Amino acid sequence: MTRWTVRMATTSYTVALEPGGRWLELVAWGPPGVEDGPSPLANTGRAHFITEADAAPVEYAPRGLRPFGGADLIVGAAGEARESWWRFDGEESGPGDLRLAFLDEMTGLRAVLCYRAEPGTDVLVRWVEFANTGSATLEFERLDSAGVCVPTGQSGARLTYLTGQWAQEFQRREVCLPAGRLELESRLGVPGHAYVPWLAVQDAADPDGPAWGVSLAWSGSWRIDADIEPSGITRVRAGRLPHPGPLPLEPGERLSTPEVALASSVDGLGGLARVWHSYDRLLTGDRLRRPRKVLYNSWEATEFAVKGASQLELARAAAGIGVELFVVDDGWFVGRDDDTGGLGDWTPEQSSFEGGFGAFVGEVRALGLDFGLWVEPEAVSPKSRLYAEHPDWVYRIDGRPSTLIRNQLLLDLGREDVYEFLRSTLDGLLTEYPISYLKWDMNRPATERGRPGAVDLDGAHVANYHRLLDFLRSNHPDVTVEACSGGGARTDLATIARTDLVWPSDNTGPLDRLGIQEGFLLAHAPHLLSSWVTDSPGVFDPRPRSLRFRFVTAMAGVLGIGADLSRWDAARLGEAAELVALYKEIRDVVHTGDVRLLADAVQYVSGDTVVVLAWNKGNLDGAPLVPGRSARVPLRDLDPSSSYVDRTSGARYSGAHLLHAGLPFDWTLTFDADVVVLERVAVL
Ligand code: GLA
Repeated sequence: MTRWTVRMATTSYTVALEPGGRWLELVAWGPPGVEDGPSPLANTGRAHFITEADAAPVEYAPRGLRPFGGADLIVGAAGEARESWWRFDGEESGPGDLRLAFLDEMTGLRAVLCYRAEPGTDVLVRWVEFANTGSATLEFERLDSAGVCVPTGQSGARLTYLTGQWAQEFQRREVCLPAGRLELESRLGVPGHAYVPWLAVQDAADPDGPAWGVSLAWSGSWRIDADIEPSGITRVRAGRLPHPGPLPLEPGERLSTPEVALASSVDGLGGLARVWHSYDRLLTGDRLRRPRKVLYNSWEATEFAVKGASQLELARAAAGIGVELFVVDDGWFVGRDDDTGGLGDWTPEQSSFEGGFGAFVGEVRALGLDFGLWVEPEAVSPKSRLYAEHPDWVYRIDGRPSTLIRNQLLLDLGREDVYEFLRSTLDGLLTEYPISYLKWDMNRPATERGRPGAVDLDGAHVANYHRLLDFLRSNHPDVTVEACSGGGARTDLATIARTDLVWPSDNTGPLDRLGIQEGFLLAHAPHLLSSWVTDSPGVFDPRPRSLRFRFVTAMAGVLGIGADLSRWDAARLGEAAELVALYKEIRDVVHTGDVRLLADAVQYVSGDTVVVLAWNKGNLDGAPLVPGRSARVPLRDLDPSSSYVDRTSGARYSGAHLLHAGLPFDWTLTFDADVVVLERVAVL
């Protein structure tokens, strides 16, 4: 057999062996049957001046075999050339749906290209398993998880990616690349704020046409490149970044790459987003059925000034408006009066809590609220007791100065003693206090990565980060974990598989936040999107928007409140209580429904219920709006011949009207966002 097809929910992926058995290539990827006919990817031109492999849609190739067109693998025996060639070594059984082996007889490198269709989704997961069957140490300079070919045409590719910086994460950008390369990467030891490890590819000539995407399951340093190949196809390479140096593989040893998920949709970027949402839901599993509680987080209200009395005042106000979970952010532990101390010493500052921390937690819970805590396990302050006792636990290069970022250092989590310290510290906190929620933060990248004798520091750190999250899941299954890294710097599929939601950005200013959330929802599902209502004007956004606008924005994911409720008057608290109650009515649809990203609106559909959130972003220029004049939001993919009734107003619309005339919104200056819930009632 020289041709194989892996079938996903509504798509298929077909690969074939090159007749000489030198490499595997993609035949077709799309709706079932797309493989019946000449391959749209086959190299029809002449491979002039380059090798045949350089012009072929190869699935995975070492440099040597593919010397010019971008290799997925750069490996060689230590001190030797890092060029290798291999031949097909058979299909084998094992984890996944398809496993095809290649062997380089000269070095003894054996690579198994692995494929797994993810149940009920249009996601195909790929990874590579290496074994050193030779007698010399091999060194990997590059080891991508996959090469991914997309049948773009002569106009090249339209590439969509999510970029930014701290407080500006998930900015959606598009570039049309007729030739050349786009390269995204992080050397930070976390996925980073600059790029999400995610990319979407379309034919530049067909921006509304099919879309293909890649998303990495790796929480450390990474790289994704997209090359426009001589034939016009786009070839994406995605994988972890061996950093700072090459990865060795000793004779007899094995090494696997992280997984990369591939998705495709004939319904453009919106369809692709829904494929990613279905995958996030699969990764969340049964935990999707747990209602994500409305939280209050005290960070913006009190920052480091955490005192029992003022926290309780906030908790009482929060409980009064229907909040279900109270999270004390940074500042609750010894030595944490500001950002120069405390990290590493995870003991509550008892003197801040009259009657002790345990009594404080009890009082919060007596209000009917769950209790949650912020932690930053991998961080250490130079002023801490932990650092005084274990200065050798941080990343450092002997004789070189250590860089401080946010006044802190980073623990070398790949060490077993550091892992064990963090495991027992977190376990101890969760055992001693009734904590239902952890916000796991990480506020500085890895610098001075050194440890005598250690080779793969990034890989070891990531492995123990995952192991700690896995430990929390199995030993404290009722605890919800929010992933955070100075905002959204740790948004990758491996983190998502082990946590319950993600803090996408510290920026909660409503207009900026809408853009951040729009980008987030292209790549990830709403049940993961943590979002707070904060004060206005606030830390990030001096432009006033109504309370309703800020609530509707946060309702697009998992609603939280981060405002200083002690300064809210009764009218504002009353309005907030109504909006929290409204959110509780719609949250199941928001978290599990089919999402359509519309212009200044999001539509969620679950069964017969349609929830539409819409925002009026303009008209802060003083120009009067005429009350009663309607803005229209055309909805998508409803049944044109069904009838839909607005649950609140009773207004009735045909599906065709909603699709083609649009759902009317009556914006006035005091009414700049709204939630509409429609029920499909009957066929007209
Ligand atoms: C990071 C997080 C914030 C907050 C602070 C606390 O910046 O992203 O949400 O928790 O740390 O120090």
